[in-house]
Amino acid sequence: MDRYLVFGHPVRHSKSPFIHTLFARQTQQELEYGLAEPAVDEFAQALRTFFDQGGKGCNVTVPFKEQAFTLVDCLSPRAKRAGAVNTIKLTDDGVLLGDNTDGAGLVADLKSHGVTLADSRILLLGAGGAARGALAPLLAELPSELVIANRTHTKAQQLAAEFHDLGPVTAQAYEQLAGPFDLVINSTSASLQGELPPLAPALIHTDIAIYDMMYGASDTAFISWAKQHGARQTMDGLGMLVEQAAEAFTVWRGIRPGTKQVLRELKRNLGVI
Ligand code: ATR
Repeated sequence: MDRYLVFGHPVRHSKSPFIHTLFARQTQQELEYGLAEPAVDEFAQALRTFFDQGGKGCNVTVPFKEQAFTLVDCLSPRAKRAGAVNTIKLTDDGVLLGDNTDGAGLVADLKSHGVTLADSRILLLGAGGAARGALAPLLAELPSELVIANRTHTKAQQLAAEFHDLGPVTAQAYEQLAGPFDLVINSTSASLQGELPPLAPALIHTDIAIYDMMYGASDTAFISWAKQHGARQTMDGLGMLVEQAAEAFTVWRGIRPGTKQVLRELKRNLGVI
């Protein structure tokens, strides 16, 4: 049977096996999907062993995405832009192709929630790997403006300069942000520590869409904060998780699984509904 897995550390709580098993059932594909948690300095060897032993493809998550970028034989244009690889496919020619489906997953999830990106003013919080992966797919939707704000402002400036050729992207310091924005995307890891990015509450209004790439069984700190300040449309990263997986599954199997039912089952599994 064709074998796939996700590499991460820690990865025990990953929902990828659950999601891909449902995709496989739905599309009647015969495959198995597991977990691998190599020590941080043993990822390269573990990856090699997996493919030497007949693995067909894998996902890569924290903290291995940047390393995976350097280990594959060739890169898709979107992985090159993202500077990170979250999906690897062994092609029929024996080549390890590195791809990145995170940004496409974000955009697909935003669209499935009815968020309009064309001509919108988008505020992207954070300038780490997650922000980098989101930038090209977001700019491809032709927003009127995309502003990056980051705690370390110089990193936001570097990122804006790097993606400037793709669209109207600028960096602004948190304290200088001028609204109104149509959409705020939180790509920071602040919620992981129960912290908030230092965003002025005045930027939140009733018609704004709020997206947190993090997710949990209950609202993230950022989503709770945004709701308190009047945001009515809030979304967490669970949908992005399912959509990036669907995109990876499509890369591997050439068939696109439906995501709605799988997302519902995942929410049930997590106790969210
Ligand atoms: P990822 O790959 O998830 O993006 P990362 O590359 O470590 O992780 O980036 C984390 C991002 O969250 C950074 O933009 C970081 O800001 P700095 O560049 O200033 O470190 C941001 N971040 C983390 N904790 C934060 C907090 N408490 N408030 C604001 N931003 C925070």
